[in-house]
Amino acid sequence: MKTIQLNNGQVMPAFGLGTWKSDPGEVGRAVTEAIRVGYRHIDCAWIYGNEAEIGEALQVLFDAGEVTREELWITSKLWNDCHQPEDVEGALRGTLESLRLAYLDLYLVHWPVAHRKGVAVPTSGDEMLSLDKVPYAGTWAAMEDIADAGLARSIGVSNLSVAKLGAVLDGARIRPAVNQIELHPYLQQDDMLAFCAREGVTLTAYSPLGSRDRVAAMRLEDEPVLLEDPVLATVAAKHGVSPAQVLIAWALARGTSVIPKSANPERIRQNLDATEIELDADDMAEIAKLDRHRRYVDGTFWEIEGGPYKVDELWA
Ligand code: A2P
Repeated sequence: MKTIQLNNGQVMPAFGLGTWKSDPGEVGRAVTEAIRVGYRHIDCAWIYGNEAEIGEALQVLFDAGEVTREELWITSKLWNDCHQPEDVEGALRGTLESLRLAYLDLYLVHWPVAHRKGVAVPTSGDEMLSLDKVPYAGTWAAMEDIADAGLARSIGVSNLSVAKLGAVLDGARIRPAVNQIELHPYLQQDDMLAFCAREGVTLTAYSPLGSRDRVAAMRLEDEPVLLEDPVLATVAAKHGVSPAQVLIAWALARGTSVIPKSANPERIRQNLDATEIELDADDMAEIAKLDRHRRYVDGTFWEIEGGPYKVDELWA
């Protein structure tokens, strides 16, 4: 299994299972199946609403001796309503309790957006708090404290632009090990890739398959469907694999970590098999041409009337 050494020396399996949109009732089975076929990295978050079921599945696997805690890499993420420094440790402890773990391998600040405590999904602007009121640097300092305490062996960020990541790096006592962002051939973010390579921050690619299963409110009717791209189909046919497998191999070839979500046993297996595929220079050159700066998870949901966030500023 391909691994990536983070800037703190920890070694992370490059390929993992995404659990966003894996519903309660199916996520436990998906995680169990994934670990049984050889996945060692599971990407979770409080907001996915399914950590307790994942915890239950992990417990069964540990109790049966099918895998040990030390063999696994478990990531989770701090939700936006717990950015006040005094709320960070409690949020992490809640996630650990749900996952039935003593520590996380990686804990990320999910979004550079803050809500009032207890507001999972804001419906009005006054349920959000500006980053002037809840500075990201304060949240990051609390993340450093939980790393010191050993509750998370690595800490990182998510959904940060180059400028925002640069600001965190400048002020950090412990540098973020990872920035988890949307990355795929329609959103290649080469500047980010180069910046992170220079700064020693590992990128994890979320929505690597284009996240077609996100809720209708997050989808545009006429959006381009990544998995149906003809160039990907050609590359896939050349290697005798599926377009999804090409996307996974592409992400790994760029040196990023990648966390495709599947709740289907056959596709869970297929995605793991993709880690063996070697794309050649021609394939990479063809796929490089596909970039269209298309965000599927575009952050428009944080721009609420009367609220402090604007989409353009989010990604600036
Ligand atoms: P399913 O869970 O039924 O397998 P992303 O990781 O970009 O969020 O994409 C997840 C979506 O891609 C889900 O709809 C998932 O469906 C689907 N998917 C996962 N693996 C494959 C695959 N190998 N081929 C086609 N679709 C896939």
